[in-house]
Formats: sequence, C-alpha cells, structure tokens
Amino acid sequence: MISPNSIDQLLNAASVEDVVGDYVNLKRSGSRFKGNCPFHDEKTPSFTVTPSLGIYKCFGCQKGGNSIQFLMDIENLSFTESARMLAKRYGIDLVETNVGNKQEYEETQKLREGVQAVNDFAMEFFSQQLHQENEGKNIAIPYFRERGFTLETIKKWNLGYSPESWDAFHKAAKKAGYKDDLLKSAGLIKTRESDGSHYDLFRNRVIFPLLAVSGKVVGFAGRIMGKVENAPKYVNSPETELYKKSDFLFALFQAKNAIKKQDKVLLTEGYTDVITLHQAGIENAVASSGTALTPGQIKLIKRFTYNATVIYDGDTAGIKASLRGIDLLLADEINVRVVPLPEGEDPDSYCKKLGPEGFQDYILQNEKNFIFFKAELLLSGAKDDPILKSDAIKDILQSVAHIADALKRNALIKELTRICDVKEEILAQELGKLLRQSIIQDKKQFLNQVDNVIKLSIDDIPQNPLTDIHQEFALIRLLLIHAHKSFDETQTVFEFVIQEYLADESIFFKDPLTIKFMNSFPDEEGIKVWPGAEFYIRHIDTELSSFAAGVFSNDHVLSPAYLDNLIYVKTEDDSYRDAVIAIFLNIRRTKIEEIIIAEQQKLMEPDAEDSIDETLEYLDYLNTIKIEIANKLGNVVSRF
Ligand code: CTP
Ligand code: MN
Repeated sequence: MISPNSIDQLLNAASVEDVVGDYVNLKRSGSRFKGNCPFHDEKTPSFTVTPSLGIYKCFGCQKGGNSIQFLMDIENLSFTESARMLAKRYGIDLVETNVGNKQEYEETQKLREGVQAVNDFAMEFFSQQLHQENEGKNIAIPYFRERGFTLETIKKWNLGYSPESWDAFHKAAKKAGYKDDLLKSAGLIKTRESDGSHYDLFRNRVIFPLLAVSGKVVGFAGRIMGKVENAPKYVNSPETELYKKSDFLFALFQAKNAIKKQDKVLLTEGYTDVITLHQAGIENAVASSGTALTPGQIKLIKRFTYNATVIYDGDTAGIKASLRGIDLLLADEINVRVVPLPEGEDPDSYCKKLGPEGFQDYILQNEKNFIFFKAELLLSGAKDDPILKSDAIKDILQSVAHIADALKRNALIKELTRICDVKEEILAQELGKLLRQSIIQDKKQFLNQVDNVIKLSIDDIPQNPLTDIHQEFALIRLLLIHAHKSFDETQTVFEFVIQEYLADESIFFKDPLTIKFMNSFPDEEGIKVWPGAEFYIRHIDTELSSFAAGVFSNDHVLSPAYLDNLIYVKTEDDSYRDAVIAIFLNIRRTKIEEIIIAEQQKLMEPDAEDSIDETLEYLDYLNTIKIEIANKLGNVVSRF
C-alpha cells in the first residue's frame, strides 16, 4: 500500500488542472475550470475542475474525484498504477508500505511496540534518577523547585533527570534487555562515527516527557540546567516511529478536557510556559515547542476547539516571525486571538509575576483579534512612511483574505479603515484583488456558498425524491459540509449525528457508500472524531473521494421536487441544524412506514385472525408515531 503521506504529497504536486489539462481543453471560469467531459459525449461543457480542492467533477455523467482518480478513469488504471504514473511524472518518491505483505506490516508494528516499550522504560528511568538518586535530588529537584514547580507538578508531568554520564541510560537499558538497535530507533542513544560506540542522547539535563494525545510517551526533551555556552538549551528526541515534531503539541493530552470544556485553547511556545500555566490552574494551555504552527498541529487543535488564543513571548522579532503560521489558523476557520506580553516576559515568567488570577485577567483584558493585532503591530513599524504603510496594509489584507466567511471579512474591513486610516472602498477593492488572485479564493467561495445552502445537484435527484438512499446521501453531504459546526451549545453537528445514530438501533443505512462513510470515522479512545472534509477528498478509497469531490464541486442546483418535498434551501446560518433534524426524522419516518407495510402484510396472511387485535393496535400506535414525526417535520420544514 502507498503510504497516506505519500498520497498527500503526490496530490499536492500533481495539480488537478495540470493532470486533467493533458486530456481536456480547460477554460477558466471564475475560480474553476470548465471543459467538455472526456468520459461522455457532450456539446456544452458540464465538466468542472476546482484547483483549490484538487478535484474534478462532471455534472453530466457524475464522474469525479482527485488527480489519481482522473488517471484511473481515463487510462483504466488501478489506484496504485495511477499513483505510480503520477509520481514518476512529478518526481515524487512514493513510500510504499506493503500492508499486503503481512510480514513487513508486522515488523513495523513490532518496531512501534518496541519503541513504545523503550520510551516507557526511559520515562521511568529518568524519573528514578530524579527522585531516588543523589545527583537528581541534589541538583535537578532544586532546579525545578527554583523554577516554581511544586513536587506535585513534577510528578504530574513525569519530569525526570538524566545524569551527567555518557552511558548511564544505555547501561540501564541494556541490563533491562533492550537491544542497541531498538534504543537507536527510539533515538535515545547515538553512535559515534569514529568507532561505532554508543552514547546517551540526554546527559546532565532535566527531562520533559512528550506525551501523545493518547497519553503515551512518544519522546523527550532535555533542558540544560543553568547557562552553558555552546550547548543548546533543549535537546529533543529525533523523529521516530512514534514521534513527528510537526504533528505534535506539547501538553495536549493534559489540556484536552479543559480545552473542550472552555472551547478555547491557549497556544504558547515553551514547555515551561505550559507547565507553569497548568500549575496555576490554567489548564487549556499547550505549546507548539517553539516552532511556527504547522498544519498537523492545527488539525490536532481542531479536534477540540475552533477558538485559539496565541500568547507570544514579549519580543517583537519573535512575534513577527510567527505571524505567518497564524494565517494557517485563519484559513482553517479558527478564531484567532492574540495576547502580547511585555518585552522580556514569557507566559511562564509573567504568570509567576501576576499570579494565577492576575494572569487570567491579563489574558481576558488584552486578548485581541489577530487581524487588529497584526495591523497595529505592522502599522506602528511603518510609522509615517507611505511605502512601508502600503506594504503593511497589503500584508494585513493578505491575512484577511485567508478568512472564509465574507461577513467576517466585511466586518474586519470596516474596523481596519479606522486602524489604517484608509477609506473603506480602497481596502475593499484591494482585498477583492487579493481574493481574486489567490487560489484560496476557491476555498472561500465554496465555504461561503455551502454555509448558506445545502446543495444538491439536480442529477442526483431521483424520481421519488424521498427514497431512503437519498436521505442517506443528504446526510453524508451535510456531514461533509457542516460536521464541524456547532449543533447546539453542547455539541457539534457531527457529535449530534453520531449520538442519534448510535442511540437508535432502528437507524441503519441501506446504501453501501453511506455505510462505508458512517464506518470511516476515526476512533479516539473509543470516541468517534470528525476527521474533516479534506480527509475524504483525499481518501484512498476512491468511492469516498469521488463522492466528496461531487459534494464540493456542485454548483447550486436545487430541484423543485426537492423543495416541495422538504429539502431545504435557506440562507440563514443555522439552516443546517434544521436540515440535520429533518434528515433524522425522515429516516425514522421511512423506517416506520416500512414497519407499517410489513404489519399490514400480516393482516393478509391466513392465520391473521389469531392476532388481529394486537396487530391493529400496533398499527394504530405506529400511525400515531408517524403523525407525530410528520408534525415535527412540518415544523422543521416550515422553518426553512
Ligand atoms: N526549543 C527547542 N530547542 C531549543 C530552544 C527552544 O526545542 N534549543 C523549543 C522548546 O520546546 C521550548 C520552546 O522552544 O520550550 C521555547 O523556547 P524558549 O522560550 O527558549 O524556552 P522555554 O521553554 O521558555 O524555556 P525556559 O523558560 O526554561 O527558558
Ligand atoms: Mn521561558
């Protein structure tokens, strides 16, 4: 099997307009391309390509998917053949993990388990060195205490100590039976090139274990105590089978419940910042480990909240460097706020200075919308220089252009006219230019459209629009577009759907694609999580990726039949809630109707006499429920 990472890389490189462009004469049409479908005969083009999403879709013959799918369809290739062909053309090295090859798969699995065992052992070792050995007790504990960490905190975070020795860990691990190869794979020992001998990665440092969201220890960071010239402040585990820096957020495991509960994450830079904040009772803080935020980290955040407050260390250079990463957050629809700290302070030092309540207050009072923050920062740098000022404004508008929601953008522009002291028309015009130029434009447009209307293509409308299969399709569409949004104060649309689905045994789906889809949600500690629409667009199962492509390629074509029969157009923002409810009510109604027919059938059977009273009573009951559902549906529908 080709690794999902490689597929991602490949789809990033093999742009769909390129791949399709080799076979179809494409003409730009707004943010998309149009052409005559290569899969069926047509005179007016109904074949569209959407570059920002990497997908194509024909509204005539319904074929659609990503670049890999296109090549499969047009060249009659298998998935692997198509991916290999594209990889060759775009110079990508595909990593093929041979899941078909059981042995290899098992070996990887074994290695992962081995590295996990070594990590568990190492965490215990470092902890013992801290709490039980004199060196740890005399040097490292006082270091932590001096930094203000309580003993409880030291234990809670499993902090440790690596002694001043080249091989203390190696020796202990060997004694415990761990082989050198495995210790190397875990990144805990390194090899000298000169003579092939080994030495410990962590020496004479205090240790911060790095836990994955699941709570498993995946790596370590070792901080030097005191100042030493020519040595890095932190030594970190290298990337291993278990640890990938760009997909890791420090303290997410410890913070996730608080993040969910408060529906907000505090993003800091450092390990010590987070630990100090948690100790002060501010438990929704995580750290990016000093790097600019990566897409992988943002994905992690989005599992728990769409509200992020970034707390910067108080030095302007650092702030400017990390502005870029934040645009990524904006593009992902995350509401970003920023709290600047005074020069020379970081969350750790400042929280200690102000105390827990003081710091909480400081955050609440100084939190600022990211765009305004950036505007003020850049404009103050530009002073009165008109050229610098116009550059600054362009830079600010770039960030605004990342925001999908047109209403939000408009509101920001209004406020920015004041901050920038520039006429609204000019800002709007500049922004318009950026939006048009930018490929992000596609994403914006599409998000705006789908926010307002649940789209159904006319081609998907069956003769009898309310067959259950189509309710099922409507449900998948709805999830793809709205799953991440809030359903009510307590849950997202996704969570509502999952709950409804799991709570009612009579809900089962008929369409194989729907069944596949409903079984595709990743599980996290027994809880289903929404992996995001992108996950489906890029899904290795082409049936799923084609469907997702279809959903996101549709222009709004709404069938009057659908409108009559309850499927929804609405321009208000909460239409999707009603739509979810309507779909579930409908699914239940269909189910009840089926039971009614089955019961009526029973009345015709030869021995019906025996149970006629019961059956009639049951039918009566079923009809009452049916009417109840119809009434509810009426209510919901009339709200559209
Ligand atoms: N970092 C790193 N390697 C370094 C320096 C920094 O990995 N050589 C990462 C660490 O994750 C660190 C974060 O960047 O926590 C922020 O760096 P910094 O502010 O310098 O460190 P603090 O965590 O604040 O540590 P301290 O308060 O002990 O100085
Ligand atoms: Mn610090």
